[in-house]
Amino acid sequence: MKRIRLGVNIDHVATIREARKTTEPDPVTAAMLAEMGGADQITFHLREDRRHIQNRDARLISEMAQTRVNLEMAASAEMQEIALALHPDSVTLVPERREEVTTEGGLNLLRGAERFAGVVKALREGGIKVAAFINPDLSQIKESAKLGFDAIEIHTGEYANASGAEAESTLRAIKDAATSAVKYGLRVHAGHGLTYHNIHPVVRIPEIEEFNIGHSIISRAVFVGIERAVREMVELLRR
Ligand code: PXP
Repeated sequence: MKRIRLGVNIDHVATIREARKTTEPDPVTAAMLAEMGGADQITFHLREDRRHIQNRDARLISEMAQTRVNLEMAASAEMQEIALALHPDSVTLVPERREEVTTEGGLNLLRGAERFAGVVKALREGGIKVAAFINPDLSQIKESAKLGFDAIEIHTGEYANASGAEAESTLRAIKDAATSAVKYGLRVHAGHGLTYHNIHPVVRIPEIEEFNIGHSIISRAVFVGIERAVREMVELLRR
């Protein structure tokens, strides 16, 4: 049985803390408990507006994590500098719009290719693996390879929001994207909107080696605790 990596995104714990601008719940504690539940990686998004994860969280998690750290960030000069200082195992470049509720779509690598290429080069030279968060779209996959990314993370949001025939066609798009990405020499990750209920068909796509999941795990954790919520997701990833 192949072990698929589970990255647990702990942003939502910080969102609750920031709702009161207080010190609890602490996403650093959440990260430690997620690891005890079997997480293979801690993922967090340090946003330009610092609406949830703060620099202090990023620093402490990077120091304390026993597994891997995946930093989601915009391709900006400020974030590049922070990433090189924190030295996470991987960086996932994501689009960022101030008004969005969450990361609503994948990157458009065809626009601002030079900026992406520069950030990818700097991070890779710093020994950090770099992934592009993109929609399951062939032109974006080709561009990811061209720009020197190590991996793509396929945005699964459209699949997660669809039902019936539309869910089938969005799943087909994810499968096709995963196959193409491997042909272009890219590793394949996936995430966004995945839950204990909709993950089953996606787990069966053999090319996907890593999932990054936040909202559903943290929501379940409210009722059953983080360790158990993570353990239950780990079980579902054993294909
Ligand atoms: N992967 C990326 C690149 C993301 O931006 C997010 C959301 O922060 C996730 C995965 C996790 O999405 P969700 O919280 O819907 O599981």
